[in-house]
Amino acid sequence: MAALQITNVQKRYQSLQALGGVSLSIEEGEFFGLLGPNGAGKTTLISIVAGLNRADAGSVAIHGHDVVTDYRAARRNLGVVPQELVFDPFFTVRETLRMQSGYFGLKNNDKWIDEVMESLDLTNKADTNMRALSGGMKRRVLVAQALVHRPPVIVLDEPTAGVDVELRQTLWKFIGRLNREGHTIVLTTHYLEEAQALCNRIAMLKFGKVVALDSTEALIKRISGSQLVVRLKHGGLPEQLQNLLIPSDGPAVNGQYQLRVTDYSQVEPILAALRTSGAVIDDMQLQQADLEDVFIQIMEGSK
Ligand SMILES: Nc1ncnc2c1ncn2[C@@H]1O[C@H](COP(=O)(O)OP(=O)(O)OP(=O)(O)O)[C@@H](O)[C@H]1O
Ligand SMILES: [Mg+2]
Repeated sequence: MAALQITNVQKRYQSLQALGGVSLSIEEGEFFGLLGPNGAGKTTLISIVAGLNRADAGSVAIHGHDVVTDYRAARRNLGVVPQELVFDPFFTVRETLRMQSGYFGLKNNDKWIDEVMESLDLTNKADTNMRALSGGMKRRVLVAQALVHRPPVIVLDEPTAGVDVELRQTLWKFIGRLNREGHTIVLTTHYLEEAQALCNRIAMLKFGKVVALDSTEALIKRISGSQLVVRLKHGGLPEQLQNLLIPSDGPAVNGQYQLRVTDYSQVEPILAALRTSGAVIDDMQLQQADLEDVFIQIMEGSK
């Protein structure tokens, strides 16, 4: 049985088709990335998974529990870190987490609450009112809140938007540990290097449709080869190298050009062509294709 089964989910806001039939089956223990540009429908899908929004058609089940007909059991199996920060400003961090525990009928949960606060570096803010926390601190509490009932499936909607490097590292260490302990993680982020480092499988959403779904490794392999980035001190790119340019119609920024290479043996002739044309290289790098390249290619290809 899948940890999260999404079957043909559709959602329309007036004339806008926010989700046009999304199906995804996420297995227990996966670290799954849900990527897509602004407005692709990621948060809409997550709010349907969380039971906060109703799909027009299709269904979602968490560990076999339908989010509509078996809401309470589904909800118990799920922890969601929402994209938007919403809190009752008058409660302290600890009170907020205790209330969330109470909502799931958990008493005597303080040991775990302390551990979660400790892992997210919130311990010294335990008795601080929510309104007195900085944005990044509030986001830590949102994460803690999603975890108080130790849900087997954890969905994080842009948990690292606007948070500092230290929290990102703390957060990924903790989430990584939960994943190794068997929790299923679903992550939405615009930081593609984070997704590349963390996720074993990725779905890309565009205009409410899944336009790519594969292992992270396989997605990156779709882009063959690397790119040679050269910055020229003098001169322009000679005519015979124009066809290697990425993007093919883009202007050079700061004399910098990105050239597609499929093989290391192509580098030497490129350098020779530059030398012959009188161009002088200021800086040069050979870069492997990464998830960002794949993302751009897939999004452009599915216009
Ligand atoms: N309550 C609503 N009423 C009307 N339209 C909405 C509503 N919520 C979302 N939308 C629209 O649905 C589409 C999908 O929005 P959604 O928030 O799911 O995108 P997203 O992929 O999470 O984007 P982002 O990366 O910016 O968070 C957008 O065009 C958005 O304007
Ligand atoms: Mg969103």
